[in-house]
Amino acid sequence: MAKGIVVYYSRSGNTKEMAEIIAEAMNEANLPTECKSVDKVKAADLLIYDAIVIGSPTYYGNMAGALKRLIDDWVGSHGKFDGKVGAAFTSSANIGGGNETTIMGIIKAMLIAGMVVQGDPQGDHYGPVSIGKPDERVRRQCAGRGRRVAELAGKLAD
Ligand SMILES: Cc1cc2nc3c(=O)[nH]c(=O)nc-3n(C[C@H](O)[C@H](O)[C@H](O)COP(=O)(O)O)c2cc1C
Repeated sequence: MAKGIVVYYSRSGNTKEMAEIIAEAMNEANLPTECKSVDKVKAADLLIYDAIVIGSPTYYGNMAGALKRLIDDWVGSHGKFDGKVGAAFTSSANIGGGNETTIMGIIKAMLIAGMVVQGDPQGDHYGPVSIGKPDERVRRQCAGRGRRVAELAGKLAD
């Protein structure tokens, strides 16, 4: 059976809260999913998952260094992420604070690894974005993204 993981880095809890909502939605949509801080995850651990969702605070328009290190370590397993479902999300302080470039940085790495990333024509297009602490809108975006990831992973596993 397919399974998923949400990996996040969070200092003040905003990204972690988003991660937990996304993981809960993935579980509810029948994709058994774990939710882990990046310090508990090694690149090779990720190979057992069919869907990998990564969330970072926006740091100068990029992902946090700990997540970049995890992704850089994928090189040891290059080719083995091919066909896995990927998705990304972020929390930033400001609207226009570099949140979408942060998400795109993660998605670019996923595409290079051969992962399948689905946009969203209705919701936050590249991935959920929270300005500070997640509000009701963000909570809906996270739940919706989690469901979409689970549905896509289910289809690809068939
Ligand atoms: C080193 C550092 C760099 C940051 N850079 C940005 C930035 O470029 N744009 C922005 O809007 N917020 C920036 N922030 C604010 C964080 O993205 C924001 O507070 C986020 O919600 C923190 O997420 P967390 O609670 O998961 O740690 C920065 C914060 C830190 C500590």
